[in-house]
Amino acid sequence: RKNPNIVNADASDDDSSTDDSESESEDNAAPAIVPIEPEANEAVAIKQQPAKPADTPKPKSAAAPAATASYQHKTVYVPVDRTPEVQAARLRLPILAEEQQVMELINEHPIVIVAGETGSGKTTQLPQFLYEAGYAQHKMIGITEPRRVAAIAMSKRVAHEMNLPSSEVSYLIRFEGNVTPATRIKFMTDGVLLKEIETDFLLSKYSVIVLDEAHERSVYTDILVGLLSRIVPLRHKRSNPLKLIIMSATLRVSDFTENTRLFKVPPPLIKVEARQYPVTIHFQKHTPDDYMAEAYRKTLKIHAQLPEGGILIFVTGQLEVNQLVRKLRRAFPCQQQDNKPGQQSNVQPEQEPETEQEFDMKRSIRNMRKSKKKFLHQISLPKINLDDYKLPGDDTEADMHEAHEDNDDNEDEEDEDDLEELQQLTAPTTKQPLWVLPLYSLLSSEKQQRIFQPVPDGCRLCVVATNVAETSLTIPHIKYVVDTGRQKTRLYDKLTGVSAFVVTHTSKASADQRAGRAGRVSAGHCYRLYSSAVYNDIFPDFSQPDIQQKPVDDLMLQMRCMGIDRVVHFPFPSPPDQLQLVAAEQRLSVLGALEPRTEGNTPPVVTQLGRVISRFPVAPRFGKMLALSNQQQLLPYSVCLVAALSVQELLVETGVQRDEDVAPVSNKFHQRRMSWAASGNYRLLGDPMVLLRAVGAAEYAGSQGKLASFCEANGLRSKAMNEVRKLRVQLTNEINLNVCDVELCVDPQLKPPSDAQARFLRQILLAGMGDHVARKVPLDEIGDKEERRRLKYAYNCADMEQPAFMHSSSVLKQTPPDWIIYQEVYELQHGDTQKMFIRGITAIEPEWLLIYVPMLCNIREVREEPAPRYDSAKGIIYCYVNATFGKAGWELPLGEVE
Ligand code: CDP
Ligand code: MG
Repeated sequence: RKNPNIVNADASDDDSSTDDSESESEDNAAPAIVPIEPEANEAVAIKQQPAKPADTPKPKSAAAPAATASYQHKTVYVPVDRTPEVQAARLRLPILAEEQQVMELINEHPIVIVAGETGSGKTTQLPQFLYEAGYAQHKMIGITEPRRVAAIAMSKRVAHEMNLPSSEVSYLIRFEGNVTPATRIKFMTDGVLLKEIETDFLLSKYSVIVLDEAHERSVYTDILVGLLSRIVPLRHKRSNPLKLIIMSATLRVSDFTENTRLFKVPPPLIKVEARQYPVTIHFQKHTPDDYMAEAYRKTLKIHAQLPEGGILIFVTGQLEVNQLVRKLRRAFPCQQQDNKPGQQSNVQPEQEPETEQEFDMKRSIRNMRKSKKKFLHQISLPKINLDDYKLPGDDTEADMHEAHEDNDDNEDEEDEDDLEELQQLTAPTTKQPLWVLPLYSLLSSEKQQRIFQPVPDGCRLCVVATNVAETSLTIPHIKYVVDTGRQKTRLYDKLTGVSAFVVTHTSKASADQRAGRAGRVSAGHCYRLYSSAVYNDIFPDFSQPDIQQKPVDDLMLQMRCMGIDRVVHFPFPSPPDQLQLVAAEQRLSVLGALEPRTEGNTPPVVTQLGRVISRFPVAPRFGKMLALSNQQQLLPYSVCLVAALSVQELLVETGVQRDEDVAPVSNKFHQRRMSWAASGNYRLLGDPMVLLRAVGAAEYAGSQGKLASFCEANGLRSKAMNEVRKLRVQLTNEINLNVCDVELCVDPQLKPPSDAQARFLRQILLAGMGDHVARKVPLDEIGDKEERRRLKYAYNCADMEQPAFMHSSSVLKQTPPDWIIYQEVYELQHGDTQKMFIRGITAIEPEWLLIYVPMLCNIREVREEPAPRYDSAKGIIYCYVNATFGKAGWELPLGEVE
């Protein structure tokens, strides 16, 4: 290792980086990304100290070496007043034993990677170490989390442990937070910090940034790693050092440590050894399709047959969590949970278990009994007999070499077996109540906190969770994990960028993390609801980082707004596909967010419009629609439209199949939708008009307390409708914050737009969807009658050779317009051939293309006749031009340009 003193001398003399001379003069300007300075990332051998028992809190000033190099932190011991209970609980956490090593490393190095098993205490303890070492004295300690749940839960926990108010240990997530000028420790989502970098590139308010859960590889955390790898040396150069701590579960840390693009010299890594008890893995012989039913069955069995210990079940989403919670509560009612056990079918999963008073009283009794129970539990540990834990139909890891193929033929037999078993299971052995708690990101934070509270006496804890519980939150007392092996992923269509949520297999790494949750308190068991063959052959080793899966339009725009010109050269931990970057840049130019790329290699400049668009928390094409709507009282409508378009499947399919292209069958939902988009501009606005009317009407019904029945009667998904409402509120708040001269409120009874407004909305939609223009296949040029009939609803899309067919659910199907824009294009197998369909149709006028999508128009000739005209009020000359549209060169009608 280099001597820190020499490093210091080096740093001030050898200040040879060429690129940031400009930014030197202006502290907060976003400088070009700089090559890294090796001395700022000094190499250190991996430190891995054996865990030693932690002793009482110690003044750390003695332990820290004298601060010599400018990046060295001068430790000042700041006392924290913790309760004895908290202190005792902390001492049980593995990271406490390594406090000194961790802090020495951090004090001496600008960038440190801390890896440790989930539950070792990284998130809750490291901010406290930093606080005690004086990092919060003059500036803040910032911790980012990819998940909102974690940001809120952790700030509350740390405030509680440190005995500090929420005004000092605070959180900030999008649209919500409790940060004050007194905040010392700030938990936030990674997106929030990225937005802060836009206005304060050097993060001058922070002395240290902790990027938590870096292994999750969220897009924002990945960008933050890249940005901070450059910001840290810049701050160091200004003798105003910033520390960066990258925290991660022990997964694929090499993406950070061995990435020379990111850090020329790898930053030191410290691994926190966690106490992990062995977990026995039980595979299923067959992989059932209905994993929800299987999860239920398996939980019944565990509860009926296995000794005490909490059960944690992993399913894919909120809906499934709630379903399973309801079912389990019905099966094993818990008095405290179900107020009226006779009417369990109506029990809402999130219902409060009991009044506060009752709860407090019971809690004190429980606590008394619990200490006794814990002791008993511990001494009963050695008696574990593995076979006791093997449930019928399971396979332990030990049997794995007898490779188990999935054999569907046996499935029925297996089901019957299970049914019989199930009937037996509902026998008296299962009287013990289950304390069933849901856990997912959108659950309110009070309800999330319940997983950390004591379990009512005599109940067994059972948590039904999404992958939030995989690494972000550690639930105490879990001994059994039931893993469906599935997760919900947002997949993006490469062609259109349109996304959809799909349920996929998890990765092996995720499955192993899930299993690990069972070994926190004692030896545990993980029941995987899939076969070992599926695990070995189908599960990928790791899931792909988000940045390589998603379209990068918004990310590209945000980075460009930060002054990062060459996104291609940005030091991503795993770079996105080059082609994806190019496509994103092109789409942004078409939107007018970036100047068109000129000859040569100069990256295009962000336009004024681009900056406005980047401030909306939606995809850039929607941001543009909002940016153009601040006129004619259009904002409430475009907010509503953008919200409705962003939520998946608001409308129930009308009985007209997705892959059908025949005229719609008469169906009451379809008829209703046709009447919503009745005539004139309503009809021409087409399918988005249906969305507007649906939201307006459903909100009205909701205000009368009739949302559910209205949705049912009109083919709407009430759940999606609730999501639309939330998004409308979010967007409205954002507009009020960002666009100063509007005071927008969410009008729950949004009246239909006027005919003129509907026309404007068509233009606004076109402005956002300029790359989704299609033209009707010209039928009069086709001689063959049969072919003419086949192509009656066919459209040519600007970039595709094959025609696409207007979907039969469209309200424009009866009168197909010549020029349209579409929301979505997709491909389906039709017999032996592929067939393309377009959905979400709006009619446009080709004259508008010159005005709203000028980037894709080619002006062939500026006409002398009709003569150019001069608008003296605006000072603009308008000329008539002959132009074509797109690569296919579609002839446009005579039009005016400025
Ligand atoms: O970040 P890491 O996964 O290493 O651990 P952590 O989140 O800091 O959690 C350390 C311990 O604190 C775990 O055993 C949690 O169960 C516990 N904890 C708690 O009891 N209550 C909370 N609100 C948060 C964490
Ligand atoms: Mg953590």
